[in-house]
Amino acid sequence: MIRKMKWIEVNTYDEMSEVAAKIFLEQIQKKPNSVLGLATGGSPVGMYKELVARHQAGQVSFKDVQTFNLDEYVGLKRTSPASYWTFMHNNLFNDVNIKQENIHLPNGEAEDLAAECKAYDARIDAVEGIDLQLLGIGVNGHIGFNEPGTPFDSMTNIVELTTSTRTENAIYFDDEAEVPTHAITMGIQSIMKAKEIVLIAFGEKKLAAIQKLKSGHITEDFPASQLLKHPNVTIIYGGTN
Ligand code: GLP
Repeated sequence: MIRKMKWIEVNTYDEMSEVAAKIFLEQIQKKPNSVLGLATGGSPVGMYKELVARHQAGQVSFKDVQTFNLDEYVGLKRTSPASYWTFMHNNLFNDVNIKQENIHLPNGEAEDLAAECKAYDARIDAVEGIDLQLLGIGVNGHIGFNEPGTPFDSMTNIVELTTSTRTENAIYFDDEAEVPTHAITMGIQSIMKAKEIVLIAFGEKKLAAIQKLKSGHITEDFPASQLLKHPNVTIIYGGTN
């Protein structure tokens, strides 16, 4: 069944960040021990800044919040400047009162990666699932690192990154050749299990992806399209016209 997504069009990146931060803020205020699904990339940086500001203003506490990140590179040390672990600490965790033991990212350094994938889904189930999941979107429609062609029923798994994704993400590395070839990502089904989802996208580069999502056509060639089947999705987008 195709459900109705909520579309919020914004004029600026900052407005997108504020609207998204407000949804997260209200979630934490409503349920202080919320389980949040978090994302990396340029899209959420402003939202994280806003959450840090609200925390510093005494409006929100992360004391009992748990977080699960969508993905991590395989074979990169978590302390590497380009790892998602480092990104999350620099952009959010270091500046709020979250407990280290409540922070979860897939471990791309695990010796047994298949076991790590299973364990990650199990850890999410153990806290009764994600209350609110944040997503960005890749220009090819990827969510997390689920590239086009990923089965909709996928759980956390190891993926090979496409050339376009590696090129896009090269800005975080000294050289494109250093971008890992594989990543560990929550699967599309792991994402769909979240109770509520917020997807943020801003800028001309995201235009095609947003238009495709709006067209309402559901296909594994465009991973984000599966979100059309989720009962509670808000898309905050702008700068695409
Ligand atoms: C990366 C991440 C995705 C993210 C996407 C878009 O590939 N794995 O989770 O949504 O990039 O990133 P950006 O927000 O920088 O455009």
